[in-house]
Amino acid sequence: MTRNTQVWRVNHQRPIRYEVINSPNVFDPHNTDLLYPAVSGSSRRFVVVDANVERFFGEDIRRYFHYHGVKAKIVTFPGGEEHKTIEFYKSLVRELDAFPIHRRDEPIIAIGGGVLTDVVGFVASTYRRSVPHIKVPTTLMGYVDASIGIKTGINFNGRKNRLGSFEPPLRVLLDKTFLKTLPRRHLLNGVAEIIKLAVIKDARLFDLLEAHGAESVEAYFQNESGGVILDRAITGMLEELEPNLFEDDLARKVDFGHTFSYGLETRNETDLLHGEAVLLDIVFSSLLARTRGLLTRADLERLFRLIAALGITLDISSLEPLTLWQSLEERTYHRNGFQRVPLPHGIGGCTFVNDITLTEIQTAHRALAQMTMLNPSAGLTAEKVESAELVAG
Ligand SMILES: NC(=O)c1ccc[n+]([C@@H]2O[C@H](COP(=O)([O-])OP(=O)(O)OC[C@H]3O[C@@H](n4cnc5c(N)ncnc54)[C@H](O)[C@@H]3O)[C@@H](O)[C@H]2O)c1
Repeated sequence: MTRNTQVWRVNHQRPIRYEVINSPNVFDPHNTDLLYPAVSGSSRRFVVVDANVERFFGEDIRRYFHYHGVKAKIVTFPGGEEHKTIEFYKSLVRELDAFPIHRRDEPIIAIGGGVLTDVVGFVASTYRRSVPHIKVPTTLMGYVDASIGIKTGINFNGRKNRLGSFEPPLRVLLDKTFLKTLPRRHLLNGVAEIIKLAVIKDARLFDLLEAHGAESVEAYFQNESGGVILDRAITGMLEELEPNLFEDDLARKVDFGHTFSYGLETRNETDLLHGEAVLLDIVFSSLLARTRGLLTRADLERLFRLIAALGITLDISSLEPLTLWQSLEERTYHRNGFQRVPLPHGIGGCTFVNDITLTEIQTAHRALAQMTMLNPSAGLTAEKVESAELVAG
């Protein structure tokens, strides 16, 4: 009998289109950006709001939907990494299931930080095999990073974002007035991602941070320069994300600061925020870049000075060579067997490396530890880096 070798090939392409829109005063009744695609008298919206955002803006949100005659089910969700769990995911799905929505034209609305938009995005991508969603970030981390891409996720089995998906939003609405009520620590948490982009791909953004970063942090980015910095950071982030939305290319500039931070974050979940871990990684990776002659002493000096000027105090007590090495190994696995670590090549430039050794990590760590420093404002200077004999030859 002949073997039937028939092959059926299915080819389908689904275009991805969404907009990231500056939408000041998003809950002003005259602003209809949130009502996309369109609402009628019988429209329903399932709205998930971060509990802290609800405290400050809950009334505005309710008034907004009431004004437009939309029947909105407002569900509050507690922020914080410890809530990025399957239990909270399931509780949201249950609430959603009890509030039927049209699965094509009544998007779920996520209003909150990166934790909330990651979890709600995952709900949207899995509920009834995907329903549309709109994201409204309310933290700086969400504003410049977490909300504007297509990644969703929850932590599982002691690992970050172990369950997740790529799910494009219908749109992302940016209203920087939310940043006004952020605790300062969370504002600085998001600043780390802006520093990341500046160092690894955008020298002009670095200049802007040097010139206007401190005043923008003081103004919680409500000032004009703060707006320019935010817009530039988002442009840069989207330039990196758009051609590689599904991460087919595993060498990603936006992974700068996201190699060693992974281990730091998972081991210090209750003490270290994502951006804090990222900034430690940025500093450590920059030291590695210096040892390889990719950064000059002056470049490193500028980075340390900028961090101090922005009012950020670095605590390196969680940096431990073995943890850093294990994190690198884990990320190497995640990146299909190659380290693919982005290192700065001059401020604003990037080189990917695949050959970082444990010894190199130990040397850089020793140099950092020798610098007393832990606190850049108390003297983490490039001079000290040099005197700690970090740079070979
Ligand atoms: N999907 C992605 O591409 C991506 C990218 C970067 C980060 N992330 C994820 O983002 C998460 C971190 O996000 P985050 O830093 O926004 O944390 P978060 O969502 O926990 O928010 C931080 C804190 O701020 C509070 N808050 C939120 N908005 C507020 C406001 N306007 N005023 C006052 N308080 C407010 C929250 O209740 C919470 O306590 C991590 O889980 C990280 O993995 C995802």
